[in-house]
Amino acid sequence: MHTYLSAKIYYHSGTGNSYRVARWVDGAAQAKDINSAVIPIESAEPERELVASRHQLAVLVFPTHGFTAPWKMICFALGLPAGKGAAAFCMATRGALKFGPVTIPGAAGTAALLIGLILLCKGYRLRGITAVDMPSNWMSLYGRIPRHTFPVGRSEPTGFSSVFWRGIPTGSPGPTSGTC
Ligand SMILES: Cc1cc2nc3c(=O)[nH]c(=O)nc-3n(C[C@H](O)[C@H](O)[C@H](O)COP(=O)(O)O)c2cc1C
Repeated sequence: MHTYLSAKIYYHSGTGNSYRVARWVDGAAQAKDINSAVIPIESAEPERELVASRHQLAVLVFPTHGFTAPWKMICFALGLPAGKGAAAFCMATRGALKFGPVTIPGAAGTAALLIGLILLCKGYRLRGITAVDMPSNWMSLYGRIPRHTFPVGRSEPTGFSSVFWRGIPTGSPGPTSGTC
């Protein structure tokens, strides 16, 4: 049973995947009548926005870069105010590839784990970490890929909201560990 009154969804996004997932989380929060906001870390003011309360949920959404979290998100997490009991959830988007019927999942490595550990150290009640497969934008690794290989992550996965909230209170893998 969730008891959140407010959700702040902080995201960092290079090409929009993590922003898209942040919007899905926002929809899931609003479906539960939770006052939620999607905030880019570049303009975030967490000292003002986050309340030290069990009714506060902070969700951090960001891409995987080189099998870990981007430096910008690491700095953001390190700079967050003390959690003091506020809940937190980490979501790393990762680059999946789909060739016809074959989906190759991304590899998030330590991305969500690292941010989750930082949040734990800062006194947040970590509700879970997860990785979400989205279209890969790691072009520097393999060059341009034809558009038709990217049917993953275009629209909100069916049942995203209910799966998201199932993962939150238990700390079990959240929205998906597979392909959206
Ligand atoms: C420099 C760079 C490194 C990446 N490293 C990984 C990686 O290690 N594992 C992975 O699964 N995806 C990796 N990706 C793919 C992105 O994490 C993935 O496409 C993500 O959803 C992009 O999110 P964004 O559009 O919010 O930036 C990388 C992408 C870039 C640009």
